[in-house]
Amino acid sequence: MNYEELKYKLYTDTSIDALKNIYSEYESPVFVYSKKTISNSYRNLINALPDKFKIFYAQKSNPNPGILKHISSLGAGCDTASLGEMKSALEAGFNENKIMLTGPAKTENEIRFAIENNLSSINVESVQELLLVNKIASEHGKTGNILVRINPPYESGEPARIIGGTGISKFGIDIEQMDDFFKSLKDLKNVSLKGIHIFNSSQILSGKKIFNNTKNVIDTAVLLSREYSFDISRIDLGGGFGTPYSEKEKPLDTAKLGNDLNVLIESKNYRDFLKDVDLIFEPGRYLSGRAGIYLTKVLYNKTSRGKNILLIDGGIHHLLRPALIGQPHPVVNLTAVFEDRNGRDEYMIAGPLCTSFDSFGEHIILPETKQGDILAVMNAGAYGFTESMPLFLSHPQAKEIFTE
Ligand SMILES: Cc1ncc(COP(=O)(O)O)c(C=O)c1O
Repeated sequence: MNYEELKYKLYTDTSIDALKNIYSEYESPVFVYSKKTISNSYRNLINALPDKFKIFYAQKSNPNPGILKHISSLGAGCDTASLGEMKSALEAGFNENKIMLTGPAKTENEIRFAIENNLSSINVESVQELLLVNKIASEHGKTGNILVRINPPYESGEPARIIGGTGISKFGIDIEQMDDFFKSLKDLKNVSLKGIHIFNSSQILSGKKIFNNTKNVIDTAVLLSREYSFDISRIDLGGGFGTPYSEKEKPLDTAKLGNDLNVLIESKNYRDFLKDVDLIFEPGRYLSGRAGIYLTKVLYNKTSRGKNILLIDGGIHHLLRPALIGQPHPVVNLTAVFEDRNGRDEYMIAGPLCTSFDSFGEHIILPETKQGDILAVMNAGAYGFTESMPLFLSHPQAKEIFTE
């Protein structure tokens, strides 16, 4: 196995041979999603974590209908953030009591849809939203289950500014404003507070950070339930489980994290409090990231002032993340693997858009790369197809294929 093949194997569980057909039958650029990789990531998490932890897939990381159906069939719930996502979750087969609605600026339509469809909870992020949920639920003669999303004074410590960290935040209600929240809640007859939601960090590869954050969030729940005398049946810890984007990063050790969490929740400080509480993680990237590969063809191969440049038929209109977050994705030259080509060189990989931001990296090491080669941009399943800018320059949208 050559170096490129090894690198490929680091980032997905689909075999490189399985890509041969796709590579010859479909036109690039195309996203290829692997059912097997999703299943493996899901089982890895479910097997590692204590049973008390439930998994809700954060649909925003990749709402592809094949992916949603598959994750629903595995038994997960679904975290949604818009009318479109709620509808897709229901269409994919997620039971209504396994769908949540979170997001800082929900419209009346979205809240009404969640109430009408008896979703498992609406996670409210302001006092005004709380009042609106109560009003809409009352108009329907229903009681809406809610969690209060809190902006806490701590963070997990994400490396990039994806969600945000501590301080001023558009997400949730500041912990310092809980008095106001509970004062408003007191008189409301059509909402039922089931627990709390805290999520403020993404792409975490350190089990220790996730562990500390989990402990902090549970401590916050204990504190609030005592201070305001309310029963908690659900603590939503958000997502944030990371996946490596470079060979320098180590994958998250889920087995160790699971063991440590088990010790925590079984300890005498927490066992009684958590007896009737579900703990929820909402991973997005961890389930969908490694499952996606973006295939793109080298149209031209040139140099500029001594730099090798590969000009490709894909770009940041389909996969904005490298430019948005400033984190390059690993790239493998599939044609070079299939042809067993050697040699190594440094390349800049750039797309067709009229901006220098349209680049997948300036220092990418590949085997000798030629016009017509197919490159696989790895770990492209999360925040790829949907977190991009497909309208810029009016190129066709990328295709998507869901494979075994
Ligand atoms: C409320 C909520 N839950 C879960 C996630 C998923 O995060 P991740 O992909 O880091 O697991 C996000 C991501 O933005 C989110 O906003």
